[in-house]
Amino acid sequence: TSNQMWGGRFAAGPDAIMEAINASIGFDKRLAAQDIEGSRAHAAMLASTGILTDKDAKAIREGLLTVLSEIESGDFQFSTALEDIHMNVEARLKEIIGEPAGRLHTGRSRNDQVATDFKLWVRDQLDAFEEALVTLIQAFLGQAEQGADWVMPGFTHLQTAQPVTWGHHMMAYVEMFGRDLSRVRDARARMNESPLGAAALAGTSFPIDRDMTAKELGFDRPAANSLDAVSDRDFALEFLSAASICAMHLSRLAEELVIWSSAQFRFVALSDRFSTGSSIMPQKKNPDAAELIRAKIGRIFGANVALMTVMKGLPLTYSKDMQEDKEQVFDAADNLMLALAAMNGMVRDMTANRESLEAAAGSGFSTATDLADWLVRVLGLPFREAHHITGALVAMAEAKGCDLPELSLADMQSVHGEISESVYDVLGVHNSVASRTSYGGTAPVRVREQIARWKEALK
Ligand code: ARG
Repeated sequence: TSNQMWGGRFAAGPDAIMEAINASIGFDKRLAAQDIEGSRAHAAMLASTGILTDKDAKAIREGLLTVLSEIESGDFQFSTALEDIHMNVEARLKEIIGEPAGRLHTGRSRNDQVATDFKLWVRDQLDAFEEALVTLIQAFLGQAEQGADWVMPGFTHLQTAQPVTWGHHMMAYVEMFGRDLSRVRDARARMNESPLGAAALAGTSFPIDRDMTAKELGFDRPAANSLDAVSDRDFALEFLSAASICAMHLSRLAEELVIWSSAQFRFVALSDRFSTGSSIMPQKKNPDAAELIRAKIGRIFGANVALMTVMKGLPLTYSKDMQEDKEQVFDAADNLMLALAAMNGMVRDMTANRESLEAAAGSGFSTATDLADWLVRVLGLPFREAHHITGALVAMAEAKGCDLPELSLADMQSVHGEISESVYDVLGVHNSVASRTSYGGTAPVRVREQIARWKEALK
């Protein structure tokens, strides 16, 4: 038998393979609530503009609520033959209320319908994404407050560079996730235009009120061009791009947690709640959550590339290719939210090992730059010459197997005769970090200002 939605011009029904490749109900059932919300708004508008009678609109709106409760309770029989969520809902509505169900699709197409449903879904995800970012930033602020003046090595090339504070390192992640937060907010503001009423592509001859449905669905305004409205998936791509950049941040952090929790570093202890053991090695406590976050990110990047690729060659307006948008976004959203939740738990629970951090901060000649700066400031040497003298002192310490503060004054003076006792003041890690008071620097006083600024911003 031919299709009940468009069977008029068809003599035969679809091949089973056609049905299989065409159907999206297997995944777009996740849009059920949005589909029904959109249809209820559309029906109300059709009645208020006189396109439908109040009686029909009422039957439709109530019938849709019945369909929703069936879906929510798990009683709904989804049909692959009915292709997608839109037709499954409408067909069931017809079974429940009869003839008026066929009037719901007046002045509308599945093209504006699916764009509307999907936008509503992505908008909810952006809201959840925003909330998860705020929670994660708060977790970092807690860590930063506790250890604002704890010292640790700062790295470049993963080689010891200069001492920094634990608080400063935590606040670096606050900045990163703070940019993610602002990207999410930007994307949400930009995407919030209603496609509903664009109809198939050209608009409609019915006297619809697009402002009314836009308002009802929480959009700021109707999308201004009907062709663009049905062919636009930028909102999904912006979600995936913001998700990808955030995922990249999560992955860098995960990598640090893996390194930091190793026996060689011992910078942090992860909680039992976010670690696993080994079935053979009794001593093991593995940072599996961090590793899985680092790995899951691949799916999010993949989704971004996949949807970009789907969209890049499509002529305006709608093409069925666009049905491939949803699974990518669903999978990326599920994994992003899980990764954010797991990272939030890990960061809240982790214990920084203040002693290990401090011991590591002083090793690897981390205050060599402070020594060079001292030669410039106190002896008036050009920085390049100071750099060279300090390099010679580092080489001497390395040969003796000690750190810079352990060189005797006589050793120092053998390299440059004017070096005096006060040089030892700058070789200590606490003095080193305290001296870096430039804006954005690692000094505890600056770090505490940034913590206060962020707390204010998140109020
Ligand atoms: N299932 C379709 C999708 O997800 C709905 C829109 C179908 N529109 C069409 N003209 N065939 O994109």
